[in-house]
Amino acid sequence: MDIVTMKKNDYKELMALWSCFPGNTMTGADSMEDLEKFLSMNADYCFSAFEDERLVGSVMAGSDGRRGYIYHLAVDESLQGKGTGGKLMDAAENALKDAGIEKAHLFIYTNNTAIEFYEKAGWHKRSDIAVMSKVLIGDKYMGTRIEE
Ligand SMILES: CC(C)(COP(=O)(O)OP(=O)(O)OC[C@H]1O[C@@H](n2cnc3c(N)ncnc32)[C@H](O)[C@@H]1OP(=O)(O)O)[C@@H](O)C(=O)NCCC(=O)NCCS
Repeated sequence: MDIVTMKKNDYKELMALWSCFPGNTMTGADSMEDLEKFLSMNADYCFSAFEDERLVGSVMAGSDGRRGYIYHLAVDESLQGKGTGGKLMDAAENALKDAGIEKAHLFIYTNNTAIEFYEKAGWHKRSDIAVMSKVLIGDKYMGTRIEE
């Protein structure tokens, strides 16, 4: 298993991976141009996992300079439970730490069993914060969940 920094050229494979999981909602922020823009600002924090040259996992992390954020963590179903998710998260968290980021956040659907994965990795679920969202560019929205 090789963990390497994410490349925009892997966009098709990444989209195919992310689209497998309802917990990874694809939205208007997931076009190739958006990925390229995100990577231009956060290249150091985004990783892909390859097994025999096949893309089998990903994590995108970003920093606003103050806090870190985690997006699109996914591991191919056939390879889950073998430590790849943990390695991807270690890579993203270490990269954020190296940049001096003290704390990171992520959004996850309340019914996603991956909450247990994150808890085992040291994350804690907040009960004191609610997420609020507003669609700013309506025609860009193409998510699969209306509440997202
Ligand atoms: C979450 C995910 C990335 C974990 O990847 P993985 O490679 O299977 O994780 P690991 O093998 O490193 O697992 C580490 C530990 O977490 C546990 N774990 C992993 N996924 C879990 C899940 N969905 N529910 C409960 N526990 C889970 C593993 O059993 C393991 O426990 P152990 O250390 O006691 O053996 C993977 O299940 C996945 O792609 N899920 C679908 C996409 C998704 O929902 N992503 C999160 C969006 S926010």
